[in-house]
Amino acid sequence: MKKYILILILAIFPATSFASSGVHLDAAPIDIYNKDSIKRGAKGFADYCFSCHSAQFMRFNRIAKDTGMTEAEVREMMIFTRDKKGEVTKTGDLMTVAMTKDYAKNAFGTAVPDITLTARSRGADWLYTYLRTFYVDANRPTGMNNRAFPDVAMPHVLWELQGINKPVYVTEDHDGVSVERIEDFETLQAGSMTAEEYDAFVADLVNFMVYLAEPVQTERRDLGWKVLIYLSIFFVFAYLLKKEYWKDIH
Ligand code: HEC
Repeated sequence: MKKYILILILAIFPATSFASSGVHLDAAPIDIYNKDSIKRGAKGFADYCFSCHSAQFMRFNRIAKDTGMTEAEVREMMIFTRDKKGEVTKTGDLMTVAMTKDYAKNAFGTAVPDITLTARSRGADWLYTYLRTFYVDANRPTGMNNRAFPDVAMPHVLWELQGINKPVYVTEDHDGVSVERIEDFETLQAGSMTAEEYDAFVADLVNFMVYLAEPVQTERRDLGWKVLIYLSIFFVFAYLLKKEYWKDIH
């Protein structure tokens, strides 16, 4: 019986049950309607992430169209490479990268995941937390570890902006076993941005990734409201009509 209740609970609350990995997630202060933020995020992505991560289900010119940039502006901002055949990348091309799986395995010990849908699989809050919680760890090959993604293979590519943090541990007692948990971070080396500037930079980046994962979501939401308004008006007429049809039937 208990088993069935558990299955039922998991079926009803899948998101909450999986999110309980124990890591506290900070709420991402993003606004999917803010096109300037998405544009800044696209620039951050092009400058710091796109050399390793592809976004292979997206085309450059779609970003131009959705954020109100010209194709020339997108080319200037995001395209630094040639495609796999050695031809100049076109704005209508998919956002692939030249790095092969074998190269990545060699360099990082794992493949570099495509980033188009990550905001959907991980969620915006996870991304916002992940990109802000890298910390020094001499036991890792890159010298850095991450609170949201323990033993991650990705280097802290934004360290020049954020600086380098070291963890502050607290020891907790779990049924007689002492467990160390990271409570906070301390700055070991300052970066070029203040903490607020860095948070804003990451928020733009996450906003862009949320857009990437579902480019039509603002249209979907707007349309949803219109449909609901239409249905509520239509309901009145449908109800009056029903009354009219049934008025002589008892
Ligand atoms: C030097 C190459 C490199 C760069 C540059 C890079 N990453 Fe990564 N990233 C990786 C690798 C490798 C992994 C896989 C980590 C693992 O599986 O342990 C990864 C993993 C991730 C993940 C986790 C994906 C998942 O769901 O497991 C996210 C999110 C991510 N990167 C975002 C970014 C963002 C945003 C940037 C730009 C600020 C960026 N990365 C820049 C190499 C890179």
